[in-house]
Amino acid sequence: MTAVGAEEIGNSDVVEQRIDELLNRMSLAEKIGQMSQLSAGSGYAPDYLGEGLRQGRIGAVLNVVDVETVNELQRIAVEESRLGIPLLVGRDVIHGFKTIFPIPLGQAATWNPEIVRMGARFAALEASAVGINWAFAPMIDISRDARWGRIAESFGEDTYLTSLMGVSMVQGLQGDDLSEPGSIAACAKHFAGYGAAESGRDYATTNIPENELRNVYLPPFRAAVDAGAVTLMTSFSDLDGVPATANDFLLRDVLRGEWGFTGFVVSDWDSIHQLQVHGLTADDEGSAFAAITAGVDMEMSGDVYAGQLEKLVDEGRVSIGLIDSAVASILRTKFQLGLFENPYTNPGDYPPIANEATLEAARKAASQSAVLLKNDNNALPLSVDKLARLAVIGPLADAPYEQLGTWIFDGDPNLSITPLQAIRDLVGENVEVRFVAAMQTSRSRNTEAFDAAFEAAKDSDAVLLFLGEEAILSGEAHSRANIDLPGAQAELVRRVRETGKPVIAVIQAGRPLTLTNIVDEVDAILFAWHPGTMGGPAITDLLFGVESPSGKLPATFPRMVGQIPIYYNQKNSGKPPSADRILHIDDIEERAPQTSFGMSAFHLDAGFMPLFPFGHGLSYASFEYKNIRTNQTAIARGERIVISAELSNSGTVAADEIVQLYVRDLVGSVTRPVRELKGFQRVRVEPGQTISVSFDLHSDDLAFFGRDNRRTVESGEFHVWIGGSSAAELRGEFRLVDRD
Ligand code: NOJ
Repeated sequence: MTAVGAEEIGNSDVVEQRIDELLNRMSLAEKIGQMSQLSAGSGYAPDYLGEGLRQGRIGAVLNVVDVETVNELQRIAVEESRLGIPLLVGRDVIHGFKTIFPIPLGQAATWNPEIVRMGARFAALEASAVGINWAFAPMIDISRDARWGRIAESFGEDTYLTSLMGVSMVQGLQGDDLSEPGSIAACAKHFAGYGAAESGRDYATTNIPENELRNVYLPPFRAAVDAGAVTLMTSFSDLDGVPATANDFLLRDVLRGEWGFTGFVVSDWDSIHQLQVHGLTADDEGSAFAAITAGVDMEMSGDVYAGQLEKLVDEGRVSIGLIDSAVASILRTKFQLGLFENPYTNPGDYPPIANEATLEAARKAASQSAVLLKNDNNALPLSVDKLARLAVIGPLADAPYEQLGTWIFDGDPNLSITPLQAIRDLVGENVEVRFVAAMQTSRSRNTEAFDAAFEAAKDSDAVLLFLGEEAILSGEAHSRANIDLPGAQAELVRRVRETGKPVIAVIQAGRPLTLTNIVDEVDAILFAWHPGTMGGPAITDLLFGVESPSGKLPATFPRMVGQIPIYYNQKNSGKPPSADRILHIDDIEERAPQTSFGMSAFHLDAGFMPLFPFGHGLSYASFEYKNIRTNQTAIARGERIVISAELSNSGTVAADEIVQLYVRDLVGSVTRPVRELKGFQRVRVEPGQTISVSFDLHSDDLAFFGRDNRRTVESGEFHVWIGGSSAAELRGEFRLVDRD
């Protein structure tokens, strides 16, 4: 066949013509081969995949990361198969490849889309150097349940923030031009609703009404598709009775029908076969039929398509047109990637792994992702000049592997710089650092070493406690029902507290934790997520004031696990809670009669407030917001409004602040959230400086899916807030009016 020249890859007519030519020459078996992705097992992959490749029965592989092996697989596909179609080579490149960036939830805490884009760019370059051309990222499932282990992989609870970060990751992975070396295909996942798993149990059922699906869960996918994401992955989960892998409403009506998606959809691992386990189909034949008719183009790691599709076509139950359109969308991606021209990888064409620029980007990402939750009496930043001895205590102070977090198949812990190393480097000979790990793992219940921790703390000027979760406690299939600090960590905190020394907790974790049992026992908390390769230097810079913390929470921190789901943009309900309308369980008299007092949406034992709200994060600067105003009192559809406020830094250091804009649509044809994030900006403010921050909103930014599940912009009154968290109090208002 004729190769498509680089200049022609961008020409969609030429590509479509080439796809047609290929389709005309392909046997049904070869077509089904393109729809099958196989995973490498143990041993040398060309030995056991070679025959399938020669026969054109494999269109894509995953989990091959050795460049010689990848090249050999490509060689067999291109040179020894009848049609010479190159392979897609997929991998979970989730937050870095060898150099690991903060977990995606941590990247979301930067509120800096450019950080996400750069992280994905460096990851794509490192992955490209071994021949990977397809990353299973971004994961853009809205995650409102911190028990769910995969919240770590997400950008958190908010639709707007997730949409922006997802788009940035797509751009970082795919670059400006997919056919350029170093650009790899993105895969927006998991379509859709996976994050709503009942009680945060991974893979559990989800029940999401269509209106909520459209308003909350689908917009990040729409944004990723609009940004050019070439592939999507289905969710493992059952959505309102129809598992996502067989969900024709999602895959046909919405994705292709409404959004015009022209890339391809891959199942999740074995999820076509699992349709039977769900109880949707009786056998593999039924599963293949359900998935292909719903719109799943490629099967990941399974043999259901390979075993069943031919028969379904022969029997006339599945049309060849359906197969052709699936294969066309897979071939399209291969053409766009330039694989027909350049199937092979020369590692020398790429920058060295973990080079200076990559490590610097990872450090910046980790620095901007850490959230200062609490800082009583300015316990932070520490000053080298004022310290003679510093106690560094805890299981995560010197844990190069754990700081990388979940989904780091290829991450290299040897590249990690731990907080202990970085602290020692920074303080040098000036400060005596006393290190006691105190616990073997974050889960350990053995308290034998707590005396040693106490001794180290007792004679020190400050105590840094490195707490949290090991990497394996979050991620796929690693959900928790109790999200307190695991093991005996709370006891360690109390023991160290007895010394009366300033205690600073640095927490590395894959999810929001319930910190209620330690929050009052420490002076400061820096929440660093799993910060990645450069976590140590980034955290150390923040602890010693080289940088000011600027991260903000991308997910609400509950007081108690029983408050979940708890998220800022909830609906008001008919009985909204307020401080004067709640009861505490301890204040109720014995045999108190049933009363209507406090009949509002709260828990007797937890109230209604989270421990830390969405968007929260402190700084070493002192920020104040005032003078919110709009440039007009009313706008009509198609018009814009500018909302601004003044932000002052009355502190003594320059720092970044994430200025957040929230909107409430007071009355709608369906009830609207109490607040919705509509904009944010990362701004730098010098000490003593006051700046004006403006947001330019278009009426379309106020759109939502209304009573009939169609997108609408409804007239009425809107409240707006500008501030440093979702609890911002500085409020303005405007109206949207009908004008002809
Ligand atoms: C299953 C996970 O759900 C998905 O996110 C991942 O990309 C695949 N396995 C491949 O590893």
